[in-house]
Amino acid sequence: MRIVLLGPPGAGKGTQARVLAKRLKFPHISTGDLLRQNVSAGTDLGLEAKGYMEKGALVPDELVNKMLARRFDLPDVKSGFILDGYPRNLKQAKALDEILKNISSGIDLVFYLDTSEAVIIQRLTGRRVCKSCGANFHVKNMPPKQSGICDNCQGVLYQRSDDNESTIRNRIEVYNKESAPLINYYNSAGKLKSLNADGEAGIVLDEMVQLIQA
Ligand code: AP5
Repeated sequence: MRIVLLGPPGAGKGTQARVLAKRLKFPHISTGDLLRQNVSAGTDLGLEAKGYMEKGALVPDELVNKMLARRFDLPDVKSGFILDGYPRNLKQAKALDEILKNISSGIDLVFYLDTSEAVIIQRLTGRRVCKSCGANFHVKNMPPKQSGICDNCQGVLYQRSDDNESTIRNRIEVYNKESAPLINYYNSAGKLKSLNADGEAGIVLDEMVQLIQA
């Protein structure tokens, strides 16, 4: 099954994608994670992307599309995938359609995680991420057992540089302008399932699983 998670920053795309990918045994492909790996490794792509990411702006389509096309060359995507953070605008949605056409497939399901602004700010200002395995925690909502340490791999938790209030507000603005039109795009294609994602993560996950099984 080929699934896209759509929603504003802090909607819980990464959190839900990780659990779904494990349960369904599909790869979790996050363009945000791929870009951050490039930034940490100091690749040409990372050096170019860094400034955009720190401002909360979108990295240019050509760079992200090329990075994603390379990821889709790997054989693990053949049986299905959970895509998180891509597409981010209509151009990327059309690029994705083309990439998938080349491997004779298409998107089956798009979950739109509808989230209110107050919830987004609360979630992102309290998010902590594992440096080693990328797992997400939250200082209040999902605290690690030991402060600053990942429950899964004992890695060190850090705060993303774009998780400060002014950059978060810019990311929300970019989302409303660039990404929100994707809701209509996938709704018109009959692929969209909307969920209220303000609630507890387990409840949102159960709703997604029920929609996948329906
Ligand atoms: P990216 O990494 O994709 O960030 P984002 O879209 O802003 O989304 P987030 O990762 O902030 O939020 P999320 O929805 O995954 O929430 P999470 O599960 O972590 O992109 C970063 C940057 O990279 C972009 O700004 C851009 O520059 C660039 N980029 C990436 N993709 C691109 C593309 N395709 N094109 C161009 N540029 C691109 O949850 C957040 C917090 O809330 C966590 O602490 C979690 O523990 C907690 N939480 C989650 N769900 C719940 C819940 N239900 N209840 C309580 N707490 C919860």
